[in-house]
Amino acid sequence: MEEKIRTIKQQALLEITNAHQPEELEETRVRYLGRKSQINQLFTQVPHMARQERSRYGKELNMLKQTIAAAVEEKAKSFASVEPPMDLTLPAASVRKGTKHILSHTTEAICRVFEDLGFIVYEGEEIENEWHNFTALNIPLEHPSRDAFDTFYLDIPAKKEGKFLLRSHTSPSQIHVMKKLKPPLAVISPGKVYRPDKVDASHSFMFNQIEGFCVDTDINFSHLKGVLLHFARRYYSPRVKLRFRPHFFPFTEPSAEVDISCMICDQAGCSVCSQKGWIEILGCGMIHPNVLTACGIDPKKYQGFAFGMGADRIAMQKYGINDIRLFYENDKRFLDQFDEI
Ligand code: PHE
Repeated sequence: MEEKIRTIKQQALLEITNAHQPEELEETRVRYLGRKSQINQLFTQVPHMARQERSRYGKELNMLKQTIAAAVEEKAKSFASVEPPMDLTLPAASVRKGTKHILSHTTEAICRVFEDLGFIVYEGEEIENEWHNFTALNIPLEHPSRDAFDTFYLDIPAKKEGKFLLRSHTSPSQIHVMKKLKPPLAVISPGKVYRPDKVDASHSFMFNQIEGFCVDTDINFSHLKGVLLHFARRYYSPRVKLRFRPHFFPFTEPSAEVDISCMICDQAGCSVCSQKGWIEILGCGMIHPNVLTACGIDPKKYQGFAFGMGADRIAMQKYGINDIRLFYENDKRFLDQFDEI
């Protein structure tokens, strides 16, 4: 009897250790602990034994059952912690494609209209010096935009061309291009600009402008009007109307602000146009002779027009966005709305 118990124990533990799958383990368990098992058969012999042996083998057989049950349980645990086999037939998890930011989309769409007319794109520089941002653009020393509170000056030593600053508009792009290239020129220049405005629903310390200009012999205000009307018809609607209001910019003469007729209410008056029927979209004018001279271009021979518009403003009007901060908060719920544009 003793011999049998020992061999059953060895055999059972070996089989349990070698079981590779839960089914195999279950088979082993039934074989050793089930009703028809060898152990149960040995139990049936116990009542026929002498008194002393009866209690001894009864105990030993019970212990054997417990040992085997514990080993089975332990092995079962090891199966549970193993990862299920990889299913190579499952479809791959889809990779979510990023989308273009609505401001990039707007900027590109606007630039494309001008590129189709033959304008070339020039991306300018975000760090400027005073000469490019102000002096060459005929902005006098006493102009408020030159004030330390109206401009982000950088804390680095000034050079011959003045202090360094984050550009307050894209107009310095005109200067860079006109200094490097000679007319005829037709350039569109998008980019970020910086002004220390208090941030609210319609102001941001950083926003985006798109500058455009054209220089050649015999350029006049009609060319400016024609180009802007073409742009408005292509970008907004063939039915759009333009309104030029006299204005002042130091770097253009004459200067104007341009409104488009409100396409949302058909000029009946709505919240987007503040009940006016017109929406201001840009500033423009004929490039001031002093600006051409500063760049080494003879104003007697050449003339040019220039315009500058705010990409943020235009996107807000076009897509009904009521807070400029939404562009810069990176909230996916906002950005995802423009997936399909
Ligand atoms: N630079 C002007 C601004 O920031 C816009 C402008 C550009 C006006 C070109 C006229 C010509 O407001």
